[in-house]
This record gives sequence, C-alpha cells and structure tokens, in this order.
Amino acid sequence: MRIAISTGGGDAPGLNAVIRAVVLSAHQRGWETVGISRGYDGLFSDLPGGLIPLGPDQVRGITHLGGTILGTTNRGNPFEWPRLQADGSIVEEDCSDELLVSFRRHQLDALVAIGGDGSLGIAHRLFLKGIPVVGVPKTIDNDVWGTEATFGFDTAVSTATDALDKIHTTAESHDRVFVVELMGRYAGWIALHSGLSGSADVILIPEIPFDIERVCAKIVERERRGRRFSIVVAAEGARPAGGQIVLRERRAVGRAERLGGIAEAVGAAIEERTGKEVRSLVLGHLQRGGSPTTFDRLLALRFGSAAVRAVAAGDFGSCVVYAPPNVSRLPLTDIIGRPKLVPLDSGIIMTARSLGICMGD
Ligand code: F6P
Repeated sequence: MRIAISTGGGDAPGLNAVIRAVVLSAHQRGWETVGISRGYDGLFSDLPGGLIPLGPDQVRGITHLGGTILGTTNRGNPFEWPRLQADGSIVEEDCSDELLVSFRRHQLDALVAIGGDGSLGIAHRLFLKGIPVVGVPKTIDNDVWGTEATFGFDTAVSTATDALDKIHTTAESHDRVFVVELMGRYAGWIALHSGLSGSADVILIPEIPFDIERVCAKIVERERRGRRFSIVVAAEGARPAGGQIVLRERRAVGRAERLGGIAEAVGAAIEERTGKEVRSLVLGHLQRGGSPTTFDRLLALRFGSAAVRAVAAGDFGSCVVYAPPNVSRLPLTDIIGRPKLVPLDSGIIMTARSLGICMGD
C-alpha cells in the first residue's frame, strides 16, 4: 500500500502532526507514504521534490512545528487549475484527468487529503473520479461541518486571546477603543471564543449582523461607568445588518476572494459617533502560525492515525471527524458545502450575553 498525503488551502497549526501520525501509522503496517508538495502541484510536474517520500526519519520532531512540511496553496484546485495561455492570460482549466493519470502512474493506492471545506470538496470530486480518498478536516476557522473541532482552531484562539490581553493594557492606559479584526470568513468561532476568553466588550460575528448604534451604546455606557476604554472584536466576515462583508480583493482567476477591513470601518464609525479615540488592528496570519497547542497536537495525531485506519478499512470517500470523546468517520458528502456556523442559541453566545458582552444586536 502506498499512501499519498496532500495539504491544501490555508495552513493551520497541527498539519505536521497529522502528517507524522499518518506516516508512522502507515509504517507500522508496513505501508509506504509519500507527500505531495504544495497541495496537488507535486502531482502535476515531474520535477524533483514534487512527491516527497516520507518515512519515520522524515517526520521526526515535527509534531510541535506550525505550518506544513509539504507546503500548501489556496490556488490548487485541479478542477479549476490556473493555466497560463499563449496570449499571457490565465484561464482556469479542469486538469483533474491529468491528476488521475499521474496518481496512477506513481502507483499510489490512497490519498489522505487534509483540508478545509474547499479542499475536502475537491477531495470528494477526486473520489468520484476514482481516487480512493480519506479526508482530514483542517482550518483555524473551525467551520467544517460534522466535526466538533478542527485542529488549528484551539491554537488560533490562544494566539488571539493572548493578543487581546496585550491590547487591554495599552487600551486602558490610553482610554482608547480598540477594534481587533480576527479571522473567520463566514463563521465567528475564533472571534467568539477568544473575545469571551480575552474579556472583549463587544464581539461581532458573521452570524449576527450588527447595528453600529448598539456597539456605540455599549461603549458610551461603559464610559458612563468610568470604564473609559473598550475592546471590540470583529470576525473578518462580520457585517452590519443590511450591509455587505468588507472585501480586500474580489475573487480572481484561481483565487478566492480576500476579506479584510471590517476593523477599520467599524473603528471609523465608532470614532465618528462617540468622539472616542479609536485604534484598529488586524491580527491576520499570526493566527495561523506558531506551535500547535496540546489540544491541537492530540487532535491532529488522532486524526492522522484514524485516517490510516480508514484506509485499512477501505472506507474511502469518508472524512475523519471529532465526535467527543471519539474520533470517528462521516461520508464526505455529509460534510462538504455546508459551513458549520455558530448556532445562535449556542452556550458560548448565551454566556457572552449573560456577561453583558454586546453581540452587536
Ligand atoms: O484558513 C482560513 C483563513 O484563515 C480565513 O479565515 C482567511 O480569510 C483566510 O484563511 C486567509 O487566507 P490567505 O490570506 O492565505 O488567502
């Protein structure tokens, strides 16, 4: 048995731990493992380094390392592959047949595809084309359906909470309002969990369109109580009721749209309405970096070994998921195309409201 591993989409702390667990679990069974470099790039070229043989020696000491030793890309959809044309333009082409040929030519028997909703959707389409696929859910945004948690989320929340702790001291010293933009395109998990842990006064998430007047009322009310600083946390996908998400870049050929700018917009609106001095901050890719937390390492290692058990069971077209206390499997069809949003009646939102945190509504 020769298993290929791919890491696609944005990186997340814990990817290397999954890779190590797949390699070691496969090795225990006497199977070989190869890593595909940069998503599926490595299958499209015969250049050295495209496919990376992985054994126990290659994955030694990587559990605690952020990033992915295989590299990744969010422009690597084989069904919409950006190809340079003779006239210099770039056009998306369906190159999945080429990928299938390459997969077979390299005598690969199974693919462990580690990715978020987009990459798992691609994995499912590859499965339908005949590639034996097992998915592993990854994203710091925690928005993959069917799994209680994705690895990388806990680390991102820790990083964001740490940042909020630091912002607090300077905000309080200067009597300022800080608006901190956190990742979370369509789901507000990071903003909600870190906002609550980091004692934010306002938390804006995509699931609850906000009213800027409510946000300002909270800040003014704090001011009246002598709390002359405030911390507003906004997921990048937060938007005003009746308004749009703020985009930094529209979708272009081979690339997803880029969100960003909500903190600045909310900050300007607060300054205008309250007269408070406001600073905004985008935490950005810091949330994707660093060493995975213990929780993420364990989850990643459990996912990797469970993926190899799925291969052994011949359960292809499936995805490993965390269903506490166990790691189990679901068909990819149950998971893809339906982002896991924060339920409006979730305990965490109820806790935030009970503590007097303004959710923007
Ligand atoms: O991994 C998901 C995510 O963190 C989103 O929250 C964010 O919008 C996106 O990645 C940014 O990705 P990049 O800048 O790498 O395209």
